Amino acid sequence: MAEYKLAVTTGSMKYAGTMDHIYATLIGTEGQSERTELDKIGFDFLTDSTRTYTIKPKSSLGNLLLLQLEKDPFLFLPENQWFCSKIVVTAPEGELLFPCYRWISRGELVELRGGKAKKSFEDVHPMLIEHREKDIMTRKNLYKWEITDEKIPHHLHYKHVSELPAEVQFSMTREDEIEYTKKNGVSPGIELKFKGMVGSTEQWEKIEDMNDIFCFQKTTISEYVAEHWKDDDFFGYQFLNGTNPTGIKKCSKLPSNFPVTDEMVKPFLAAGCSLKKEIKKGNIFICDNKIMDKIPTRMYGEEPLQMPASMCLLYLNPENKLMPIAIQLNQQPSEQNPIFLPSDSEPDWLLAKIFVKSAHALEFESVDHLLGTHFMAEIFTVAALRNFHPVHPLYKLLIPHFEYTLHINTLSRINLFGPEGILNNSTLGYEGTKELVRRGFAQITYSSLCLPDNIAARGLESIPNYYYRDDGLKLWNIINSYMNKMMEHFYPSDADVSKDAELQGWIQEVFTHGFLGNKHSGIPSDFTNVKDLVKFLTMVIFTVTAQHAALNNGQFDYLAWVLNGSLLLRKPPPTTKGQSILETILETAPNIGETVKFATLFLILSEKYSDMVLLGAYPDERFDGPEPKQIIQEFQAELSCLSEAIQTRNAELEIPYTYLNPTQIENSITI
Ligand code: FE2
Repeated sequence: MAEYKLAVTTGSMKYAGTMDHIYATLIGTEGQSERTELDKIGFDFLTDSTRTYTIKPKSSLGNLLLLQLEKDPFLFLPENQWFCSKIVVTAPEGELLFPCYRWISRGELVELRGGKAKKSFEDVHPMLIEHREKDIMTRKNLYKWEITDEKIPHHLHYKHVSELPAEVQFSMTREDEIEYTKKNGVSPGIELKFKGMVGSTEQWEKIEDMNDIFCFQKTTISEYVAEHWKDDDFFGYQFLNGTNPTGIKKCSKLPSNFPVTDEMVKPFLAAGCSLKKEIKKGNIFICDNKIMDKIPTRMYGEEPLQMPASMCLLYLNPENKLMPIAIQLNQQPSEQNPIFLPSDSEPDWLLAKIFVKSAHALEFESVDHLLGTHFMAEIFTVAALRNFHPVHPLYKLLIPHFEYTLHINTLSRINLFGPEGILNNSTLGYEGTKELVRRGFAQITYSSLCLPDNIAARGLESIPNYYYRDDGLKLWNIINSYMNKMMEHFYPSDADVSKDAELQGWIQEVFTHGFLGNKHSGIPSDFTNVKDLVKFLTMVIFTVTAQHAALNNGQFDYLAWVLNGSLLLRKPPPTTKGQSILETILETAPNIGETVKFATLFLILSEKYSDMVLLGAYPDERFDGPEPKQIIQEFQAELSCLSEAIQTRNAELEIPYTYLNPTQIENSITI
């Protein structure tokens, strides 16, 4: 009689355990065991516990191929899902890891593959080949592409989070915490905290009153913003290290529709300098919001709102500060479209900057953050779930970087982007936001998603104090080296890449459904060598970890102070100099209720939740064998060194740049 010991681990998240009956069947090359109940004295499947069971078939099962799990009701109790983490089987031939890491419901037959990661062409046993094909067919039925707009990436077909398969849903802990944060932001009970601000249609009476928004939450940076939002050097700083650090480029030639003259800006340049010379020296930069040109906006009362497609010229001065020196609020120069200068009246210059920041914030939220990270992540995730079998090395490697992404995106399609979503309250409204995403998507290319190429294309390789670039490039290189080692291990030759049907299926769907078959995007439609695969995977992991952290985590810090980047401006931009007063700024800003609504959104999106997993942590043991584990440890060590270096650098800075410190970066997009 052979003996097989099964060490069964139940997950550590809330409600992971179950009282139900669990049955296991082992299937090997020489036969299968009886369906055996895993039952011992006492509680068997408690949250965060491991218990060992024995199965004794009459004879050896040969090499183990599959482990089947089933769950039956305990007495009359209602459904009690079980989160099985892993099962380690000690067979006469040795130890084998069967990763599970999913919820199991009654009536399901869950078949787990054990052992080392394998690509499909490495499976030789007919039962494994058949099982693998069947599993992928099931996945393709479970996760389908949906098209809601011909001009944006396809997405997962489920409309509501309640329909999502359990394996991609939030944990109960996460759901509870988000609900708590939401309630603390907007529920009637909390209205007292806001001193009656929720739902108020009153205009702010004084700019200082906006500090009331911080009565329930503030951060060191949000306070700094409230104090310094008017300062030109802080305005410039944020283009490099604020919540949207990707919106400027070097200006090597002044656009013909932005006729800034030397005379206009000379007073703001260093003594003896001219605009022409400074452009030549590489000291002039531009933020051009032309994506907003003639974009639809929503009605506000009887009038349509306005979102001018502004342009802002910035100068890197001898103190290495990036200073705005000229702003034109619309693309077409005209008398009603003056070029605003730092020497104009305070309200004029502030309003010009407020309109630039508002366009920047809207583009940031819809294009850079949601489309550029969340929706990109969804493309990679849906294609992965449909094409990779869980025993494939890239499933094991990528799935931890896709955790919760489908859940948060399904929520955002309703709560953020839907006709009733919060962005419907922005200047652009629902239709304008959709159009902005379409325009943004038309600009996304493979190289814009790759940080080194992106920085080079924008001519920002040497601008000083650009911590997003400095930390980001280091992270890019660390992730690249990690992917290089992993892919060298799993793909010894280019031929292994070419003949990996699941991998080719993945990238084909990314290209077709994600990038709509657009060859000009530069996104590959197949892989023929290891080098290209490594670069693509680096981009994927960088986008869903570092890039998302850089864009997502500073939203409350920088945007809660509404004049520093408002999603809504209620008045048209100034068309003549000298007509605005400080009161105009208060009339232009969102009213009190609208301000609270946006601040609550930024609070929820910037919150750290207790079940967050840090970049490179991989609490789930998915790889069997020492090599991948060793590579992961090296990755973690490099991240830890970078974290120390960033902390040392930050200790010297007036405003520490923390968003790309690995201790602040999540392993996937979860919020
Ligand atoms: Fe996010």
